[in-house]
Amino acid sequence: MIDHSRIRSAALRTRVCTADEAASLIEPGNVVGTSGFTGSGYPKAVPEALAARISDAHAQGNPFKVSLLTGASTGPELDGALAQVDGVSFRSPFNTDATMRANINSAKTDYLDMHLGHLGPQVWQGYYGDMDVAVVEATAIREDGTVVPSSSVGNSKVWVEQARKVIIEVNSWQSPDLEGMHDIWYGTALPPHRQPIPCTRPDDRFGDTALRIDPDKIVAVVEHHGPDRNAPFSPPDATAEAIAGYIIDFLSHEVKRGRLPPSLLPLQSGVGNVANAVLGGLENSPFDNLTAYTEVIQDGMLGMLKTGKMRVASATAFSLSPEAAEEINDNMKFYSDKIILRPQDISNHPEVIRRLGCIGMNGLIEADIYGNVNSTHVMGSRMQNGIGGSGDFTRNAYISMFMTPSTAKGGKISAIVPMCSHVDHITQDVQVVVTEQGLADLRGLAPRHRAELIIEKCAHPTYRPMLLEYYRAARDHSFGQHAPHLLDRALSWHQRFVETGSMLPA
Ligand code: COA
Repeated sequence: MIDHSRIRSAALRTRVCTADEAASLIEPGNVVGTSGFTGSGYPKAVPEALAARISDAHAQGNPFKVSLLTGASTGPELDGALAQVDGVSFRSPFNTDATMRANINSAKTDYLDMHLGHLGPQVWQGYYGDMDVAVVEATAIREDGTVVPSSSVGNSKVWVEQARKVIIEVNSWQSPDLEGMHDIWYGTALPPHRQPIPCTRPDDRFGDTALRIDPDKIVAVVEHHGPDRNAPFSPPDATAEAIAGYIIDFLSHEVKRGRLPPSLLPLQSGVGNVANAVLGGLENSPFDNLTAYTEVIQDGMLGMLKTGKMRVASATAFSLSPEAAEEINDNMKFYSDKIILRPQDISNHPEVIRRLGCIGMNGLIEADIYGNVNSTHVMGSRMQNGIGGSGDFTRNAYISMFMTPSTAKGGKISAIVPMCSHVDHITQDVQVVVTEQGLADLRGLAPRHRAELIIEKCAHPTYRPMLLEYYRAARDHSFGQHAPHLLDRALSWHQRFVETGSMLPA
């Protein structure tokens, strides 16, 4: 039920209108920036009304598409609804919606896969043209007109600064106790002479708890009541549990060697089922007083905050299963001093990640024998989700790990391949690769030794002999011996999959 008391500014109460009226302010060809990050805090009513408007326009033979910029992935009411009516000409920076993915891969929608920490600053720098409209979900509007974000901050600060018009969607499903959890820093500036970000611990607060918005730009305020709808996680299986076990053993070893403190360093955990399962595994690890400086708070991290295993988590958004989203919404007060939500250009900022010495743990599509990683493109050409924040963290973390089941699609695809069909993370940035088969610690190793270790520790037994055969043949016949490859065979596994549906020979 809509809670009208969420709009506490008398002046902005006069701008309340319906979602249809708000959507009518968005024109064909507009650049639209919305809140929303990994299924959290995205506007719901206005995008659905916009999708209906676009559908009507198309039915009358009138073209109507918008450019859509967000924080990261959103939900069915935004990406799903707009993709279903083919209403998006350009999309950035990250998407997990199946219909939008289909439009991207059939070239109906141009997609720019961008580092999540970079998009806001790049829009600010003017690389994407003028932003016409920002549509931002809020928990509340305060008496002074400042706007309390909801379950994500994402790029909202940049969008409301850059857009000509701002539409606020106040969602009373979001817990009122989110108020106070955000930390919006107003010290960002274009170069030269940028000041350091004053963050030396994950729990440092140095910003405002709400967004400042020029009231003259706010053209509509829409009241809504509806849940964030993120996809549920698959329950951890034996594969994920094995990966978690290897990671915990590795971290324990690093603590014993004195290379990590007993409470580790701030954790960063990527999106997806495997990352979530690894966090679940850390719940039963020997480490205490854990912290996170990361992008998203998933079910596994929430569990650790609940039991006290983790002391504090800094992120830009929640990325929760529907059950966990309900759970936190009912108990937000308990988490209010344990969670800080920041703009994504701060949560993912290289300066802070490097200073804090984060431990990066991200998923992958495929890794090659030298430790290059593809996080995004299936068979080199089909977009899965996007690089997300994995690049922001991997390049700058204290330890950068990648984890994956050793095979995909029922064993028809090996996640360890001779050569990646697309590279997001170069070998210099990738320090540890983990599968359910084992963990390859690549630090300090030259390429040929990396290859031997990755094949031995990470490859699935079905594919290990094939990789060894390739590597040995490459050593014998390669043009160069630094990182041996056979160019006519390096991508032959992918080609075989495209032709036959399996990387395995017939
Ligand atoms: N070839 C083809 N498909 C593959 C594949 C491969 N080598 N590896 C994984 N996949 C498919 C899986 O089959 C699955 O497909 P489905 O949804 O049709 O079942 C899908 O990718 C997800 O794989 P899953 O094994 O469940 O892992 P995940 O949920 O942990 O996701 C990534 C893995 C790589 C897709 C995910 O981690 C991601 O999007 N990473 C990039 C963004 C990122 O790292 N962000 C974090 C920064 S904070």
